[in-house]
Amino acid sequence: MIVYLNGAFLPPAKASISPLDRGFLFADGVYEVIPSYRGAFFLLDEHLERLRRSLGGIRMPEPQPDEGWTPMLEGLLQRNPGGDRSVYLQVSRGAAPRDHAFPAAAAPTVFAMVSPIVETRPDPGEAGIAAITLPDQRWGRCDIKSVALLANVLARQQAVESGAVEAILLRDGVVTEGAASNVFVVHGDTVSTPPLGHAILPGITRRFLLDALRDTGWDCREAPVTEEALRSADEIWITSSTRELVPVTSLDGRPVGGSRPCPAWRRALEIFRCARDRSMGIEDAGAIR
Ligand SMILES: Cc1ncc(COP(=O)(O)O)c(C=O)c1O
Repeated sequence: MIVYLNGAFLPPAKASISPLDRGFLFADGVYEVIPSYRGAFFLLDEHLERLRRSLGGIRMPEPQPDEGWTPMLEGLLQRNPGGDRSVYLQVSRGAAPRDHAFPAAAAPTVFAMVSPIVETRPDPGEAGIAAITLPDQRWGRCDIKSVALLANVLARQQAVESGAVEAILLRDGVVTEGAASNVFVVHGDTVSTPPLGHAILPGITRRFLLDALRDTGWDCREAPVTEEALRSADEIWITSSTRELVPVTSLDGRPVGGSRPCPAWRRALEIFRCARDRSMGIEDAGAIR
């Protein structure tokens, strides 16, 4: 494995970061997770745009010019050959004497590493995942992809300890998102997902799926999803860059909708993958996995 740190490609053991790094001391940084299929990034521009937005949200200048990101990320992918992979990219405000306020001068720390994309569903097409609901205890700017993920970590751990895979978070009686995913619910022919705002991450997969479904005539709504609407849904899906679109078939230990095969999810996944392959210029659509 080769990682990227501040301009160098090197083995993880040789990549050292100061203990005074503000990413370590304050979680003062932002990140992206960018999927790649057959060696090519999917929606890279969208991820870089969100990175710039997150940096703006924590008042950090971009650590390098726009055109520097793509060769760096592609260089990292080439040094880590394998199947479908995602790149984790993190930018922190860098090392400085510990003080909450921004340091007068600190060089940002830019770190990136590659991980395999692992299928969440043990048997794709058959098994959905279990989720639990939990109160959303995160801060008020969840639209910033911050590395401060302690509330997400605790929610995910609680899910795992309950035998589930994901925690779906509720705030003031409505769904916000998953601990590491966006949430969609299906009622009849209508697909709904919570609207953008400070309460959720503007998921790249969420946007791509909404566009792909709308292009094929689906009725998709970006509107508040109440707890009642979640519990009465025919289907629940979660989306993220490394998991794409996964059905939730058990919520708080109860079956969702009673329809194990999740017919809408099946069609939606096919539409998603066709749109993905088309956007990547891949001919034999659906053949990636
Ligand atoms: C809290 C949260 N919401 C939503 C998502 C999905 O975002 P994307 O589709 O851009 O991966 C993630 C991804 O990790 C996440 O951590």
